[in-house]
Amino acid sequence: MKILVTGGAGYIGSHTLVELYKAGHTAVVVDNLCNSSSESLKRVRMLTNSDIPFYQVDIRDSKGLDRVLEENADIDCCIHFAGLKAVGESVAKPLEYYENNINGTLVLLDCMRRHDVRNIIFSSSATVYGNPAVIPITEECPKRPCTNPYGQTKSMLEQILTDLHTADARWNIVLLRYFNPIGAHESGLIGENPNGIPNNLMPYVTQVAVGRRPELGVFGNDYDTPDGTGVRDYIHVVDLARGHVSALSAIRRECGLVIYNLGTGNGYSVLDIVKTFEKVNGVKIPYSIKPRRPGDIATCYSDPSKAFRELGWKAQYGIEEMCRDSWNWQKKNPDGYALN
Ligand code: NAD
Ligand code: UD1
Repeated sequence: MKILVTGGAGYIGSHTLVELYKAGHTAVVVDNLCNSSSESLKRVRMLTNSDIPFYQVDIRDSKGLDRVLEENADIDCCIHFAGLKAVGESVAKPLEYYENNINGTLVLLDCMRRHDVRNIIFSSSATVYGNPAVIPITEECPKRPCTNPYGQTKSMLEQILTDLHTADARWNIVLLRYFNPIGAHESGLIGENPNGIPNNLMPYVTQVAVGRRPELGVFGNDYDTPDGTGVRDYIHVVDLARGHVSALSAIRRECGLVIYNLGTGNGYSVLDIVKTFEKVNGVKIPYSIKPRRPGDIATCYSDPSKAFRELGWKAQYGIEEMCRDSWNWQKKNPDGYALN
């Protein structure tokens, strides 16, 4: 299939491009580079040995998107990654987040409809479960209010896509709820490249390991978890990327609207990550215990069995490989893409 990949220069998009080409698909990338660098695409082209077309276009620019779809009239499906994703920033800049994520998606959907492309895979998040009613979390678990505008945009976009499918059953829509993607391509050529101080655990750990930050702050050790620190379902980004390739099979069989968790089903604590990272990579991660981070929950991990049953997808990598590949990427690119 030929796939329009919005946000393809970003962390998950770049890894997904590699897996799409490996599986024999082709892609056209749209990204405004507001949180990424075209260097990632250069490296994806090296890894895939393919000249992947790239349009530096904002998804809110309907004329720009029209041009992309006119010049690539054989696009079958869109994988929609483009969006702003920093939780703290979304609290400070709600209008910018709603405008970019909601309006951007509305413009994209309208443009797809005009060009008769009615297949979309959407990047959603486990954040839509809020403080989950049941652990492990199945797709039937009720959605709960999110504590920040970023999470709200994911929840609202899921609803918008659901309403769209209700109104016009020709749409095939796959909502993928990601748990915690970490790791990098085994080559170390592409990986996560956060701007400024990382919000998420693994990029913070790797920046401590490479000497860019003195120590990790562990946000709370008094949760109701085995060691008191927060437990999450970390998933290797390459497994996550392959989940998108598998989701194309649902699109192919005209799935209507379907929802899948993409996680491993295993929960690891913050200290599990620190210890595994140290053991696998032979580097020390100094840390100190800090107060809880507002909005955090104790435990969040998936039941990923629906994706296995219906898509035949299952995560292959374990926590050791995730720690190894995160470090391999950071070690080879101490400043991310910036100075390469
Ligand atoms: P990322 O920031 O690395 O990639 C997103 C890309 O979208 C960037 O390249 C950015 O430049 C682009 N973009 C943003 N707004 C745009 C616009 N208006 N027009 C065109 N391009 C635009 O983030 P990521 O980690 O690769 O995440 C991809 C998607 O997955 C996002 O929608 C994110 O919310 C979602 N998600 C990510 C995680 C995670 O932990 N990384 C978890 C759950 C869901
Ligand atoms: C966060 C977001 C969530 C988003 C997800 C993936 C919040 C409240 N939630 O989830 O909306 O979908 O990222 O991008 O921000 N931790 C530390 N020290 C750090 C960083 C994190 O101890 O410097 C801890 C956290 O308290 C948590 C765990 O590590 O227990 C994982 O944190 P993080 O990587 O930010 O992911 P989530 O909180 O699961």
